[in-house]
Amino acid sequence: MSKTSLSQPSSASLSQEGLHALIHRELETEQKTNPMSYMKFANAKGRPYQSYERIGFEGLRWSVEKRIREYGLERYFQPESVVLDIGSNYGFFVTEFALHVKAAHGVEPVPELCRIGEYTADYLGVRDKVRFFAQKFEDFQAPCLYDTVFTLASFFTSDKNQRSSAELFFGKIRDILKPGGQLFYESTSFQYRPEQEDYQHYVHALEAARVLEELFTVDDRYEAPSGPENHRLFMRCRKV
Ligand SMILES: C[S@@+](CC[C@H](N)C(=O)[O-])C[C@H]1O[C@@H](n2cnc3c(N)ncnc32)[C@H](O)[C@@H]1O
Repeated sequence: MSKTSLSQPSSASLSQEGLHALIHRELETEQKTNPMSYMKFANAKGRPYQSYERIGFEGLRWSVEKRIREYGLERYFQPESVVLDIGSNYGFFVTEFALHVKAAHGVEPVPELCRIGEYTADYLGVRDKVRFFAQKFEDFQAPCLYDTVFTLASFFTSDKNQRSSAELFFGKIRDILKPGGQLFYESTSFQYRPEQEDYQHYVHALEAARVLEELFTVDDRYEAPSGPENHRLFMRCRKV
């Protein structure tokens, strides 16, 4: 983890069981230290957030592999690309991308979650291709320009830790993309009607879309169901 790198034992020779033990140790600490841990949210019912088939790890979201397939993210598997995942959570998109691209970075303010990403990268043999930055995206100083940036449910987060304006958030993404670089946006989960609990997430998804249409060339835009009552907005954008 670049910013708050802590000296931790290498997990290079770990079994999958050993990796899970390290992950659960970090998640236990995270639940104690992070009042807004996603594992404490009512809908989580104590389950971890991300899932990753490659390491046999189950969480509440579809697996990273299934999300990559459903969202068509294989198009970003380019051997010479450097990619950034904003709000990288357990780092499972970062490690999966590291298997297919030149380098993959994650920015994630919760240090325990960055450590999970580092352990997983060690386990998968891609540690030299990944970097985690334990800070908010707003404070992140990009060490390079990126070919691809992912913001998956990391704008207007439910943990309330991302609250800068859409202009600032997506403007900064534009600044750190190479010319022709690509952005994939997934909104947080929303509901359409003002009286519903997740309506504000709809308002902010629409605001994100407005700014993205202004700042980027939009190649695709669609909405899809998310659970029984909610939806998400997805946009595939290019810096011209
Ligand atoms: C809803 S989760 C989504 C995780 C992951 N992107 C995914 O879709 O599987 C939101 C993540 O963004 C992180 N986050 C919250 N505020 C952030 C900020 N200001 N900058 C970067 N990440 C942030 C949270 O800690 C959490 O891991």
